Amino acid sequence: MKKKHLKLLVIALASSFCLFFFFSKLKDVEHKQRDLAKITSFPDTTTTVVISNTKKKTKSVMPYELPPLTISETFRKDIPKNGAFWNRKLHSLLRQFDSTANQTEKDPHDKFLCQPESFELIKTNIQDVHLYPPLYGDFLRGMECRDPPLLINQPDKCASENKEDKIFLLFAIKSIPRNFERRQAIRETWGRGGLYEKRLQVRTVFLLGRSSADDPNLDKLVSFEAQQFQDLLVWDFQDSFYNLTLKEHVFFKWMLDNCPHVSFVFKGDDDVFANTQAILNHLKTLEPEQVTALYTGQIIFNANPLRDPKIKYYVPQSFYEGPYPPYAGGGGFLFSGNLLPSLYQVSFYIPFFPIDDVYNGMCFKALGITATQNDGFKTFDIREEDRENPCVHKDLFLVHQRDPGQTIRLWRNMHSTMLTC
Ligand SMILES: *[C@@H]1O[C@H](CO)[C@@H](O)[C@H](O)[C@H]1NC(C)=O
Ligand SMILES: *[C@@H]1O[C@H](CO)[C@@H](O)[C@H](O)[C@H]1NC(C)=O
Repeated sequence: MKKKHLKLLVIALASSFCLFFFFSKLKDVEHKQRDLAKITSFPDTTTTVVISNTKKKTKSVMPYELPPLTISETFRKDIPKNGAFWNRKLHSLLRQFDSTANQTEKDPHDKFLCQPESFELIKTNIQDVHLYPPLYGDFLRGMECRDPPLLINQPDKCASENKEDKIFLLFAIKSIPRNFERRQAIRETWGRGGLYEKRLQVRTVFLLGRSSADDPNLDKLVSFEAQQFQDLLVWDFQDSFYNLTLKEHVFFKWMLDNCPHVSFVFKGDDDVFANTQAILNHLKTLEPEQVTALYTGQIIFNANPLRDPKIKYYVPQSFYEGPYPPYAGGGGFLFSGNLLPSLYQVSFYIPFFPIDDVYNGMCFKALGITATQNDGFKTFDIREEDRENPCVHKDLFLVHQRDPGQTIRLWRNMHSTMLTC
């Protein structure tokens, strides 16, 4: 009995020491952070309401030169004009775009009013809005709010000693605060940044919002992680499925501000396995015309909105009516970095959509970029019996989905010197 007590005491002492050490480390980090202007501290409450803090006007004109924008005819034709809310909003924005008086000089932010009144207006514009799933309310409320503050930035992510040395491939991984392990597995495997083949610069960033007020507050841990690994971007909005198009929009903006010269972007989820070497090999062999207009992955053609209110991808008829454009499955896809300025610009004329990969498809189509099918992207995964087989993965670019342990194992096996395929 006594021995047991002693043991418990030792354990307790040891763990309080560990905790003490951990928290003093956190304090350290906090101090360091205060010195680093680039990391803004998290606001005190987790319930920041965007509506109240984006009312204030930001810059009146965008700070960078953007190329002239044209919006493709097929996009305009293929999204029918009808009574659905989103369709009406799109065509109204397109009319604004066409009245040239409105598209030059003016800040596109002016078209969106992030105010409670806008939400009231939206509600009166959709007759059966009371029948929408509860989360749609939050989505509709956020539709006009496009400027959440950036809380944690990595302004040096794309800097390199040598100016000509531009980033060849940037992994931009959608993650959420609590997915620490997934991010770590990616860092240790396919998302490892650095110089590949002595000349190809690869970088990784994780795109995060904030956990909801109902979840444990992970702000401190996320700050610590950002400090350790310098690869987190955190915006002040609630990280939820319906906010993924907002994440897309702010990511485009971040790229223009911080990483404008990147050859290719891989946009994907944190539960995929990507084969970095195969992706690099593929990108190196592209023809010049593909290099500047790439949008590729597993392309979903001829999809339509799903009308079953019980499923995640439900889109009410009074919200959107029409086909979806061909779009790359959001688990992971590739596109040309030089499209970023146009993507950012065009996203001001395409209302936010509840499904982010469909939204992406719309943006690319609006720019006249064709989605090209690439059979190496397996966003619906591969045969069960092949899932641990490194040889099968050698020629694939992406499989969805893998947990952190599987990712580590697969990576190790694929890079084993013993491997003979
Ligand atoms: C410019 O856009 C506003 C709406 O934002 C509209 O009321 C106005 O008529 C447009 N001007 C022209 C010249 O089309
Ligand atoms: C999106 O984020 C905003 C700001 O945090 C929040 O008010 C809104 O509820 C979120 N939307 C969804 C659908 O979670």
